[in-house]
Amino acid sequence: MSKTKHRVLSGIRATGQLHLGNYFGAVKGMLALQDDPKFETFYMVADAHAITTPYEVEALGHNREAVIVDYLAAGLDPEKSVLFLQSDVPEHFELAFYFSSLTSVAKMQHLPTFKDKVKQHPENVTMALLNYPMLMAADILLYQADAVPVGIDQEPHLEVAREVARKFNATYGSHLPEPQRFKTSGEYIPALSGEGKMSKSVPGSYINLSDDLTTIEKRVAKIPTDSGKGEIRELEAESDKHDDLLYFDQGKESKGVKTLLTLVELFSGENLRRQYEVAYEGEGLRYGDIKKDLAQAIYQELKPIQARRAEILAQPDYVAQVIKTGQEKAQLVAKKTMIEVKSKLGLA
Ligand code: TRP
Repeated sequence: MSKTKHRVLSGIRATGQLHLGNYFGAVKGMLALQDDPKFETFYMVADAHAITTPYEVEALGHNREAVIVDYLAAGLDPEKSVLFLQSDVPEHFELAFYFSSLTSVAKMQHLPTFKDKVKQHPENVTMALLNYPMLMAADILLYQADAVPVGIDQEPHLEVAREVARKFNATYGSHLPEPQRFKTSGEYIPALSGEGKMSKSVPGSYINLSDDLTTIEKRVAKIPTDSGKGEIRELEAESDKHDDLLYFDQGKESKGVKTLLTLVELFSGENLRRQYEVAYEGEGLRYGDIKKDLAQAIYQELKPIQARRAEILAQPDYVAQVIKTGQEKAQLVAKKTMIEVKSKLGLA
């Protein structure tokens, strides 16, 4: 299987408008690779992945396009990247089925991402949910991509994709690449609640790219804090989720303080975070002011994205054209891979 450039594939589930977690976890990496001439970049909207958890039909119809609009607003450029909808290229599902023949049920049942979803929606433990990682492996390997810009929570899925590639290569004598995660700084964005990561499925945990200043101020104001004064202790990293070593205390409020400072560092720089940390152990912090400044800093970063978004929304034909061209370009590559895969499998 031959190609001249390294390929990149990434995707975001079509569950709503993009938030800061998507932006730092995936979109920033997508932007960096799009502008690197060594790479050919494919960025999709994982709309079929969105039906693996309970969803509303009408909302999905809207959300899949909303993600393309957010991609364009954030700076993804259809002249440089192939932007497309996963379900527009049915080869994804074909390859996912073939890959499922190489993967044991037990392995899929033990993935942390599967277990989390089972806990969230115990009434919805479907075949599609179990097969989620097979479809993601197919998304990536259909384009023979070796780099995947996604957040660290997706690492177990990438490991599955590498295993599938190895197994396919060993069984059928092929040369699918083993995809690696492309990391970006600030890729783990904590939830505003101070518990876990920023996520669309946890209300109140996120800030959307399209939020106005008042909304951002309201959301930031809700980050739980403490008295503003205390001692910062250093602990060993308790998990591989993030390598931040500073802990304030164990309570929910103090986790909120850590969230606040992580966001300060991302939007206003490391120096300001340091200053606040020193003040925390000295004269104390005034969270009201800090939160106002942070909301302003976030809004300044989002303003140009929002301005482009408004321009794009005014041109629905342009969005439709981007999606159509993306489908054509993606399917061209997908078809080539499927011809080779089917012949290896003995199906051609
Ligand atoms: N599982 C990813 C997420 O929840 C979305 C996704 C689907 C994806 N297919 C992909 C990401 C392929 C990267 C590559 O964020």
